[in-house]
Amino acid sequence: MLKVGLVSIFPEMFEAISYGMTGRAQEIGALGVEVFNPRSYTTDNYRRVDDRPYGGGPGMVMMAEPLCQAIDAAKVSLERTPKVVYLSPQGRCLDHDYVQELVSGPDLVMLCGRYEGVDERVIDARVDEELSIGDYVLAGGELAAMVVIEAMARWLPGVLGNAESAPQDSFSNSLLDCRQYTRPEVWRDKAVPHVLLGGNHQAIEQWRQKDALDRTEHRRPDLLVRK
Ligand code: ADE
Repeated sequence: MLKVGLVSIFPEMFEAISYGMTGRAQEIGALGVEVFNPRSYTTDNYRRVDDRPYGGGPGMVMMAEPLCQAIDAAKVSLERTPKVVYLSPQGRCLDHDYVQELVSGPDLVMLCGRYEGVDERVIDARVDEELSIGDYVLAGGELAAMVVIEAMARWLPGVLGNAESAPQDSFSNSLLDCRQYTRPEVWRDKAVPHVLLGGNHQAIEQWRQKDALDRTEHRRPDLLVRK
């Protein structure tokens, strides 16, 4: 089982991953998720987790102590010595190879920041790496953490019904997916490509490979050069 400890002041957001593939991964015991709320580790009456930034400027910064204690509580509850990842736009960008590294590595603690970010000293003290899901700024790390979890879930043993499915997906072979169709054969005057209707599996496979290659050349030529 891959265990993920989530450090977040919005535990309810993670209800979203109790649906679909990530939900099934948890049900079958391939994925374990637990949320640790930094607010539970505050000592003041207001249960404050943020404060004004030194040097001035807009917004608030998350304080080191409650975050550090929540991270440490998460680490204790994970069996294998976990890797601590901070979700931030300053991190290494998530892609297929990064997902593979994460699923084949140790358990994970994912630190979800809010506001203008977290006190840098907690990053220095506890974070092993920073991870970004793209070059744009989100209001917090929670959605990013759920993107990482969903991208990993399909690679966990037993999660996909058909064991063949994950390696056939986009990016496993550096190609985009081919076009897919289902019934009816003609929809609003548009017909399904003829080759898919016959039972010639070799011809279908050839068509799919060419379609994937054509789409990749047209939409993402960078994927072909990179290989
Ligand atoms: N938190 C805010 N923006 C983010 C991003 N692009 N990736 C990961 N975490 C984030």
